[in-house]
Amino acid sequence: MGMSPWVVSRRRLLQAIPAGAVAMGAAALAGERSLEAVTRAAQAGGTDEEFWRRVRDEFLLDKDWTYMNNGTLGPTPKPVYYSLTERYHDLAQDPGQPNTDQNNMAEEVRRKAAAFLGADVDEIALVRNTTEGMNFMLGGLDLKAGDEILTTFHEHGGGLNPCNLKAKRHGVVVKAVKWPAPAEDPDVILKAFDAAITPRTRVFMVSHVMYQSGSMVPLKELAALARSKNIITAVDGAHPPGMLKMDMHDLGVDYYASSSHKWLCAPTGAGILYLRRASQEQLWPTVVAGGWDDPKRGAARYDRQSQRAHPIVVAQGAAIDFQTAIGRERIEARVRALCTYARRQLSGLPGITFHTSMNPALSNALLAFTLPNLKNADIVYTLKKRHRIWTRTMEYDLNAVRIATHIYNTEAQVDALADALREIVKGQVLAMPTA
Ligand SMILES: Cc1ncc(COP(=O)(O)O)c(C=O)c1O
Repeated sequence: MGMSPWVVSRRRLLQAIPAGAVAMGAAALAGERSLEAVTRAAQAGGTDEEFWRRVRDEFLLDKDWTYMNNGTLGPTPKPVYYSLTERYHDLAQDPGQPNTDQNNMAEEVRRKAAAFLGADVDEIALVRNTTEGMNFMLGGLDLKAGDEILTTFHEHGGGLNPCNLKAKRHGVVVKAVKWPAPAEDPDVILKAFDAAITPRTRVFMVSHVMYQSGSMVPLKELAALARSKNIITAVDGAHPPGMLKMDMHDLGVDYYASSSHKWLCAPTGAGILYLRRASQEQLWPTVVAGGWDDPKRGAARYDRQSQRAHPIVVAQGAAIDFQTAIGRERIEARVRALCTYARRQLSGLPGITFHTSMNPALSNALLAFTLPNLKNADIVYTLKKRHRIWTRTMEYDLNAVRIATHIYNTEAQVDALADALREIVKGQVLAMPTA
């Protein structure tokens, strides 16, 4: 505790690398070794627990803390962190050739992202986050006064604000589809959307995973319903990439925006915007630079930003490599199993209400709950101050505490959370300071 991450990483770095090697890109070498370690662990027999312990070792996380808010921001594992620092170091040393080289590396990252998400390379734009991707989608569509966007009752501002801007500026109508939550039957959600469609409905703007409850929508079926009525699906996919195994072509959506700095554990400011090839024709780019009007460029037309933070883009490729080495199915199975374990361990708490669906088709690695007679802010504050567990409140329409379980979390950490909550329920709670 108390030491800056840079100091910690330099120390570990120097321990890990022979002195002679430092001059030839110490960070890159350390990142490579870390990736090799995970690849070897993934191929080795070993128990599952042993494997996940080794994966956890490849994160620079402070061991004194239990971090359970990957839904806001994920920690970068070593290969990502070292890739980032190495590239920035290269630019500091020489902003000439390295800048050109890093710019050119974006194409490789695009290819990796396409393979990771089940998309084609010309369907991938490299953006900064979900919010930017959602603005690019909604801002780029020609919608007229009276056209309707159907959305849900638990949308994040990242997708909702661009819809509301469209409403204020162009008279587009934004309607929230409602259903009794949490839905355990995907048909409930599909029927609610079907019933809300009118001849003016142009867009479904939905979160694949809803940030407040952690529940999901049946996206593939919603996209099929939309397509059957000539409606566009614009998806806020802030969470699933890096959490669930994804296949964009199988999902059949038109546009899908995500934040790689969440579950993919890429550096802050890395995001992927999927734009289905055939659906690009009707989407205007928002930020334009040379090449924006050349359809042969595919989705790359939508991320033309001139000079940008190339080290972040390149490190996003390292994040994809890291998760690919572990295995996408293996990650999904692990993060879901930890979340299921958390639900089981917490379910004994008196009066607990879970806001997350129990249906595996509608749930994942986020879990939201409420405890009676306690303020969520006080629970989160006590977990942080007394137990060193980092969670978050959801003080919006849904009044809840939300936890996230990712690959660096353990069952022991979930047990510690359950113990801490048991104490809190018995009255060992700190009031969150108001000022
Ligand atoms: C569902 C959802 N959409 C959008 C966002 C915004 O993400 P970002 O800040 O990376 O743009 C979040 C962030 O938590 C989210 O949970």
